[in-house]
Amino acid sequence: MMNKTTGWFSTKLVNLLVLTTMAFCFNVMSAPWDDQPPKEVEALLDKKFAEGKYSSKGADTCLMCHRKSPKVMELFDGVHGNADVKGSPMADLQCEACHGPLGSHNRGGKEPMITFGSNSPVPAEKQNSVCMSCHNDDERMAWSGNHHDNADVSCANCHQVHTGHDPIADRATEVAVCTNCHTQQKADMNKRSSHPLKWQQMVCSDCHNPHGTLADASLKQMSVNENCYSCHAEKRGPKLWEHAPVTEDCAACHNPHGSVNEAMLISKPPMLCQQCHASVGHTSNAVFGGNPNAFNAGQSCMNCHSQVHGSNHPSGKLLQR
Ligand code: HEC
Ligand code: HEC
Ligand code: HEC
Ligand code: HEC
Ligand code: HEC
Ligand code: HEC
Ligand code: HEC
Ligand code: HEC
Ligand code: HEC
Ligand code: HEC
Repeated sequence: MMNKTTGWFSTKLVNLLVLTTMAFCFNVMSAPWDDQPPKEVEALLDKKFAEGKYSSKGADTCLMCHRKSPKVMELFDGVHGNADVKGSPMADLQCEACHGPLGSHNRGGKEPMITFGSNSPVPAEKQNSVCMSCHNDDERMAWSGNHHDNADVSCANCHQVHTGHDPIADRATEVAVCTNCHTQQKADMNKRSSHPLKWQQMVCSDCHNPHGTLADASLKQMSVNENCYSCHAEKRGPKLWEHAPVTEDCAACHNPHGSVNEAMLISKPPMLCQQCHASVGHTSNAVFGGNPNAFNAGQSCMNCHSQVHGSNHPSGKLLQR
């Protein structure tokens, strides 16, 4: 099968050998339009799209100038640079499927192309519309208006496409990419008690869909509790005697990302329980907080109310058995 890139493929190795030495200076350069006001860049891009002047030789045209960058060349290690993948940019408009029509960019390289990431003057929404033109499927059904979209996080803030190995799509490195921005979760997951996120046995996207969902906090399940039950099925009711906050919201007592308290509790019993339960009703309250007693030592309230998640015992109304 012949296509526009076969010419390039045969010379790939030679290029890499000759040109890796020059690569660094090329890479640190930024595009000349990066300093222009976003509005002007957008207007120029709109004009270019209206004129629709795509190159006749596709990637080969671009690579006349851009093959010096190893980063650019790594596109061909991934699906987007593979003309044999159905629907891949390489099978159609090639580089211009993402970077927009060439126009007169090749004359001095001054006319803007669409660029990606946070340093680009192209608004995140416009960048993302390029990716969404091919990826508007079930997984990204709720992208529009989700937390990341609203906060102008772009697809390219998380994903790299000029590579055969996108770190965010690898379970070994996903958490590191997410926690670049989410420093609170990074701190929590390293606390004494946490889900095994720091060991890469679990990743953020086990619980969240980073592309958005209709649920709060972009959870994959419709509610916090449904999320927890998906792995902790034994906590799902109905129980004979239920504990109201347990059936309503596991996060009323647990921080799913981790905590300094055992069992990822948001605070230590008895304080945890006293957020909702006044200490009236227990005769031994007088010494609360003083000498160790059944209320504050050992398992605290759970010394007696051990079945905090609910009880199936006929006389478990007070969650004691
Ligand atoms: C005649 C040479 C030439 C050709 C052909 C050319 N470019 Fe460029 N391009 C440049 C120069 C010069 C720059 C600005 C300096 C730089 O960033 O490398 C640039 C910048 C870019 C940038 C921004 C890079 C950055 O660091 O932000 C992108 C993206 C780009 N070109 C894509 C393309 C694509 C896609 C094609 C083919 C459709 C293409 N170019 C064809 C010369 C060229
Ligand atoms: C699937 C969309 C897509 C395709 C196809 C694509 N690019 Fe890119 N390009 C990007 C994104 C996104 C970035 C930002 C860096 C990254 O995410 O890897 C980028 C970055 C660049 C840069 C600046 C980065 C650097 O370090 O020099 C240049 C130049 C560039 N692309 C040129 C090209 C050329 C030439 C082709 C065709 C051979 C091409 N791109 C094909 C999406 C694409
Ligand atoms: C011209 C269509 C097209 C465009 C534009 C496009 N992609 Fe893709 N992308 C594909 C195809 C085809 C695949 C392979 C099949 C699949 O996974 O859907 C793919 C796969 C992916 C994957 C899975 C990676 C893998 O190795 O399987 C990611 C992530 C991705 N694209 C992100 C992006 C991002 C980010 C952009 C915008 C910078 C983008 N795509 C632009 C067509 C496109
Ligand atoms: C907050 C980080 C983040 C952002 C922003 C993001 N993604 Fe992803 N994406 C991921 C992670 C993590 C995975 C792998 C786990 C998964 O499939 O959910 C993934 C997987 C993918 C895949 C391959 C599997 C699938 O879901 O089909 C595609 C395609 C993709 N993303 C496209 C996009 C596009 C297009 C955008 C922008 C509209 C985007 N992503 C924005 C984190 C992100
Ligand atoms: C075991 C499931 C689970 C895992 C793994 C997980 N989260 Fe969460 N996350 C949740 C739940 C549940 C909520 C909602 C908490 C609430 O309602 O109080 C949440 C909320 C959030 C929020 C919203 C702010 C907040 O704390 O309410 C952010 C941001 C977030 N998670 C990011 C992450 C990141 C980043 C990772 C990976 C380091 C991650 N999460 C891993 C379950 C999880
Ligand atoms: C480029 C920075 C960046 C990266 C990378 C990133 N996020 Fe976010 N995320 C944000 C911003 C900004 C918001 C919106 C403001 C906020 O709520 O913190 C957000 C919001 C969220 C929320 C919703 C918070 C809420 O208020 O309910 C969740 C969940 C989340 N991110 C999960 C993830 C996961 C999972 C990953 C990795 C797959 C990830 N994020 C990667 C920047 C990022
Ligand atoms: C994707 C599966 C998964 C989901 C979803 C999940 N968990 Fe976990 N949970 C685990 C695993 C795995 C462990 C670790 C078990 C171990 O270390 O033996 C764990 C452990 C725990 C622990 C004990 C931690 C400790 O330090 O002893 C608590 C508490 C917990 N999870 C609560 C929750 C809550 C609350 C939710 C919902 C917000 C939830 N989990 C959602 C898989 C999950
Ligand atoms: C009223 C506070 C509270 C609520 C709400 C709560 N828990 Fe707990 N959870 C605790 C306490 C206290 C512990 C400490 C050990 C114990 O006594 O069971 C604990 C321990 C755990 C553990 C680790 C030990 C074990 O029993 O396996 C898991 C897993 C857990 N909870 C999951 C959940 C899930 C899932 C939900 C929601 C359905 C939930 N918890 C709701 C207070 C609560
Ligand atoms: C988020 C609020 C909240 C937290 C935190 C909480 N509870 Fe409760 N608890 C309730 C509610 C609401 C009820 C139901 C009260 C009723 O039906 O009168 C209840 C009922 C009980 C009952 C049964 C009492 C009865 O009359 O049925 C016991 C025992 C109990 N909780 C113990 C605990 C313990 C021990 C903790 C700490 C691990 C705790 N609770 C944390 C809200 C909470
Ligand atoms: C030494 C055992 C013991 C400890 C420790 C204990 N309780 Fe109790 N609790 C009981 C008994 C017995 C009852 C029923 C008799 C009564 O009302 O005094 C009870 C009743 C309750 C009730 C239902 C009656 C009411 O007062 O509304 C709640 C709620 C409760 N305890 C919460 C707690 C909390 C919260 C803690 C920790 C601060 C705690 N208990 C510690 C033994 C204990």
